[in-house]
Amino acid sequence: MTSTLPGPRGIGLARALRRFSRDRLGFQLWLRETYGDRVAARLGPIRFVFLYDPDDYEALYTGPGRLSKRHRVVRMHAEALGEGLLTGEGEHWKRHRRLVSPSFTPTAVQQYTAAFFAEAERGLAQAGSSAELHTLVLDIAMRIAVASLFGLDLGDRFAIVENALKTGQDHFVAYQTSPKALLPKWVPTAARRRYRGAIDDLDRVVYELIAERRARPGGDDLLARLLAVRDEDGQAFSDRDVRDEVITLFVAGHETSASTLAFVLASLAVRPDLQDRLYDELSGVPLTATALREAPLLKAVLEESLRMYGPAWMSGREPVEDLDLRGMHIPAGTQILLPLWAYHRDARRFDDPHTFRPERWMDGSLAGLHRYAFVPFGGGRRVCVGNHFAMLELAAVTAAFVRHARMEPMWDGAIRGQPHVTLRPAHPLPVRFVPR
Ligand code: HEM
Repeated sequence: MTSTLPGPRGIGLARALRRFSRDRLGFQLWLRETYGDRVAARLGPIRFVFLYDPDDYEALYTGPGRLSKRHRVVRMHAEALGEGLLTGEGEHWKRHRRLVSPSFTPTAVQQYTAAFFAEAERGLAQAGSSAELHTLVLDIAMRIAVASLFGLDLGDRFAIVENALKTGQDHFVAYQTSPKALLPKWVPTAARRRYRGAIDDLDRVVYELIAERRARPGGDDLLARLLAVRDEDGQAFSDRDVRDEVITLFVAGHETSASTLAFVLASLAVRPDLQDRLYDELSGVPLTATALREAPLLKAVLEESLRMYGPAWMSGREPVEDLDLRGMHIPAGTQILLPLWAYHRDARRFDDPHTFRPERWMDGSLAGLHRYAFVPFGGGRRVCVGNHFAMLELAAVTAAFVRHARMEPMWDGAIRGQPHVTLRPAHPLPVRFVPR
């Protein structure tokens, strides 16, 4: 029973909440160190279970728990995302996943390699001799999302999309941490009006693009693919289905990649030795999708970055019916939380876990690592549908930066993350680009 598991109760719960609001990442480590690998807590009617044991992750992702819904924090995005892959459930989700997945196989995503390089090179050319890394890669990732989804330059509509996404995210973070979030949804606060306005702006642009493309079919971008998919019985996606997936792919895809890229590049900027070794690995070879995927040091740098600074710092599930997870009874509706930030920094599996050391992925020290001990893209049937797209994008943009110039940090060199919708850099990361 989850109620017999250790966890903060009474005055301990009040202290835990204070700790959580002060430092949400440190809280994840503290919870495990204080209570162990399975921790239960209760806030009013809502039960929580935090898991830290890879066998539990495997059982949740692949056992009966695989039928669970996403936890409620993700589902709060439903107003903006509709019933796209992130927030959809049941048969609706199954159908969407079946129709969207073929566009994200390792082979299908290769077609975007040229766009990944082109947008990175354009961003670097515009930046000149210095830039703040997070701002620069947010712009690059946004343009990559537009190019791969719509295959065109959005012109004036780019600023509308960019602004709507930013307003949406800011609202969401404010909402998570404000007491106003407890007000019923129909109470019209100023923040909610802004949020609704942002969703309406985004809808206008996306429905316009769908109508334009239906009038003039063609292209091999994601929008064209979403419009062309058919069920076994010949049924296509409705405009609403396409709108939900386009916005979901945008939201799920661009900020996650941008945050990760900022951490990858910052980690390289403070390690000139690594930059030189990567430069040697990546120069003088044609950078095809296969070459990018097989470059060992590049792969290790990306994996180490996802281990330490994975954008999904917390993940989770909500079982739709009572669940037996390796002998633990979890009632339906419990929020099963997977504190990925701390999970990937567990010294029992990753030696010296708070140190960025890509070599650990190459020197055999992780041989025998549990299959579910490293899950930056989640797992089971709801694993990130964009994972091959993301890994290729990260590899291509990182390669473009490394080949462009040597990066020198213009900050004190410390790298700290801040939990936002994704994990973001907590401070600016200015760098100087020194031509090789
Ligand atoms: C570094 C980049 C990324 C990371 C670390 C990441 C991570 C994740 C994680 C942890 C999940 C939840 C998995 C689970 O619940 O088990 C997820 C879901 C998802 N991701 Fe990603 N993601 C990234 C990039 C992308 C990109 C580029 C796209 C699309 C172009 C994308 C689209 C999605 C979608 C649609 C889902 C929901 C899948 C479903 O439930 O069927 N992600 N991602």
